[in-house]
Amino acid sequence: MKIVIIGTGYVGLVTGACLADLGNEVICYDIDKKKIKQLQSSDAPIYEPGLKRILRNLNISKKANTAAAMRKNKVLELGSITFTSDPEEAIRNGKIIFITVGTPQQKDGNVDLSFVKSAARTIGKFLNGYAVIVNKSTVPVGTARLVKKIICGYHNKNFDVVSNPEFLKEGNAIKDFFNPERIIIGAESKKAKRIINNLYQPFSCPILNTSLETSEMIKYASNAFLATKISFINEIANVCEKVGADIKGVSQGMGMDSRIGESFLKAGLGYGGSCFPKDIKALHNIALSNNYRFKLLKAVIQVNNDQRKLLAKKVKKMLGGLKNKKICLWGLSFKPNTDDFRESAAIDLIKLFQKEGAAISAYDPKVNYEEFTNKNNFRNKINFHQDKYAAIKNRHALVIVTEWSEFKKADLGKIKKLLKKPVIIDGRNIYEIGKMRELGFRYLSVGR
Ligand code: UGA
Repeated sequence: MKIVIIGTGYVGLVTGACLADLGNEVICYDIDKKKIKQLQSSDAPIYEPGLKRILRNLNISKKANTAAAMRKNKVLELGSITFTSDPEEAIRNGKIIFITVGTPQQKDGNVDLSFVKSAARTIGKFLNGYAVIVNKSTVPVGTARLVKKIICGYHNKNFDVVSNPEFLKEGNAIKDFFNPERIIIGAESKKAKRIINNLYQPFSCPILNTSLETSEMIKYASNAFLATKISFINEIANVCEKVGADIKGVSQGMGMDSRIGESFLKAGLGYGGSCFPKDIKALHNIALSNNYRFKLLKAVIQVNNDQRKLLAKKVKKMLGGLKNKKICLWGLSFKPNTDDFRESAAIDLIKLFQKEGAAISAYDPKVNYEEFTNKNNFRNKINFHQDKYAAIKNRHALVIVTEWSEFKKADLGKIKKLLKKPVIIDGRNIYEIGKMRELGFRYLSVGR
């Protein structure tokens, strides 16, 4: 199928690359010319396991539908992917047009739909035949209809709008794309429903066909439920600390009940990233603007914010104050296997530590340190390192912020020798308490 992707951010790029890998002819459009240039040379602007490999194997062309590219694809039985910053070239070729642009949060917590609206206007301008416009961006209920209204304002009225939320997890997105647990298709027109069901034919998972509104709500409700699980387990962890229970065993025991399920029961520093914090606040505000107070979600947000402050308090107590203390953070991304640090616990922790006069060093295997510094308004300079052991030399404490597997496998004896004091505060519960005691560490974690 001829597919157009509008917006080559994380969702757009993964979706485009995977759909091309399945044999479709994909054109990715983005207004960011620099990004398009980078993509044209097979270089992925984000770190996502498996993405580079897929892009490398695909036939990447700079112009859509060149005869040579078509011939090459036929021989290799591969799909193709084209990257362009020319909207006309992209849209006039599309039979299925995905909107995968960002829906950032405004200062008041509401969703900023300006990129979605602008994508709809671009589609309206250049659409020249029947196409299904598929919205994959996370948007408030009613947005698919808004997109329809905007495109209707242009000359070509031969199109349908579908809502098809994504459930990809950063760091696992390629695997998630090829092994979905469900596909949600919100559509009004039978024709559009048929086309999109057909696109997903290679997948064996259940496909749920719903109305536009239900589909849009499924996405928010799913993210909100997962965030609720995280805040719930973090509160249980906090009680565990008071009563002498171990959250790891508690999560394990709870998770054995198939009604509860074992996933998203890891206690720690709470959720971050570009989705949960924004989506939970958005759903809370959507409810409020419809005269409903979503009390539970308010608490979920509060617990998540407090979880970081609680850890900072632990560090302060352990070190007898933070002034002039040298603290090292391992992990700056919001979770492992990604270079994304949006809303990561590390940002809040560094700010809290610096405010109290501590000096910070840090190590992360993938985060771009320059970007991390430029995008966050830190009070003082951070001492970044390319080697995790160099980062802890002569520090008063090591704080584990992200559970990268290389931290789990780290040489604990070496850590002890390098640190000024053998103090580890583990925000992700990656080490065994017994072993840490045996080795002589002063070790604190969450809910144990
Ligand atoms: C999340 C959803 O899991 C995806 O299904 C969804 O498609 C995506 O948002 C989105 O809306 O685009 P993602 O933000 O990539 O995916 O990350 P998750 O793996 O869900 O983790 C979110 C945060 O929760 C991370 O900071 C992680 O450390 C934290 N978390 C997760 C916990 O603290 N405990 C857990 O048990 C699980």
